[in-house]
Amino acid sequence: MRLMVTGGAGFIGSNFIRYWLEKYSEDYLLNYDLLTYAGNTESLIDVQEKYDLHYQLIQGDINDLNKVMEVCNKFNPDLIVNFAAESHNSYAVVNPSIFFKTNVMGTQSLLEAVRKMNINHFHHISTCEVYGDLPLDSDDSFTEQSPYCPRTPYNASKASSDMLVRAYHLTYGIKTTISNCANNYGPYQFPEKLIPLFVTNLLENKEIPLYQSSSHQREWIHVNDHCRAIDLIINKGKSGETYNVGTGVEKSVEQISDIILERLNCPPSYKKYVQDRPGHDRRYLLDSSKIRSELEWKPEISFQDGMEETIDWYVQNQWWWKKVKHKSLVTELNWNSSG
Ligand SMILES: NC(=O)c1ccc[n+]([C@@H]2O[C@H](COP(=O)([O-])OP(=O)(O)OC[C@H]3O[C@@H](n4cnc5c(N)ncnc54)[C@H](O)[C@@H]3O)[C@@H](O)[C@H]2O)c1
Repeated sequence: MRLMVTGGAGFIGSNFIRYWLEKYSEDYLLNYDLLTYAGNTESLIDVQEKYDLHYQLIQGDINDLNKVMEVCNKFNPDLIVNFAAESHNSYAVVNPSIFFKTNVMGTQSLLEAVRKMNINHFHHISTCEVYGDLPLDSDDSFTEQSPYCPRTPYNASKASSDMLVRAYHLTYGIKTTISNCANNYGPYQFPEKLIPLFVTNLLENKEIPLYQSSSHQREWIHVNDHCRAIDLIINKGKSGETYNVGTGVEKSVEQISDIILERLNCPPSYKKYVQDRPGHDRRYLLDSSKIRSELEWKPEISFQDGMEETIDWYVQNQWWWKKVKHKSLVTELNWNSSG
């Protein structure tokens, strides 16, 4: 198979490329990535060395339809997997426009390329956050039929992109699939996101910022379990369908901080409570029974093992995050001045 991955220099994309080439080493994979502050070619040094002839990176913007089509013309992909996005909820509060440009119009540009060039299949990576949030004490979870109810600019941009994918499927008959996944954790995540931010701050002997609503829950999945789900959807999923991908493992930010503090032998005094981000969602939980029953997916990495391995990875790979942490575009301290 000839696979074009967009946004493959980011967190999930780079893990997916490594996963894919390890499993399907005969395939050819092209990584098309703008290399924004969140894109890092150093996340794929090992892949570049090991799969030299089967892997290539091209720097480019998904909004640049001419360039996307030129690249597709040369590479001739069977499939595009779209990870490319602005992905940081907090940054979306201060600079929403770039989220709509990349996540919505960028996705539309890719769909245009797929339509014009008759590319066989478009898989779109989306998030649980499109469904809105749940009360902390509810027994509900979101199914693929739940209405979209995004509450933040990032969530709204992702929800809009999902709608575009569906519209292109229905209008033009393009083969599309969508996965809506829970919060990922694992190696190579930019240290603006919760787990790497906390671990790297502690390694730098800095406080860790918890929102005052630190009991807010997230559902957590190891990035490799997400990659296996995408693999199954690509190979066995039905065209036009959406699949929720979650573990059912919910942890509050407070619990996550305690796990990290304990693993790094740091006292609770490192916690600093800061003002909540505007629109901070309370809780998301996915009903993943569809992918479990139809595609026989289930998570394989326990939360405890995955967290320990992840924390240790940031301890052992300081060369990776120390070079990029300063590129963070937002601090979580004072939302009143976010303008
Ligand atoms: N991280 C999570 O927990 C999570 C959960 C569910 C879904 N998702 C979705 O998964 C996808 C990947 O998330 P991530 O956490 O790896 O994000 P990330 O921010 O780590 O990576 C995004 C990548 O996209 C690239 N990019 C940004 N704008 C681009 C553009 N205009 N053209 C080409 N490339 C561009 C960046 O350079 C970067 O390499 C996103 O669509 C996100 O919405 C993430």
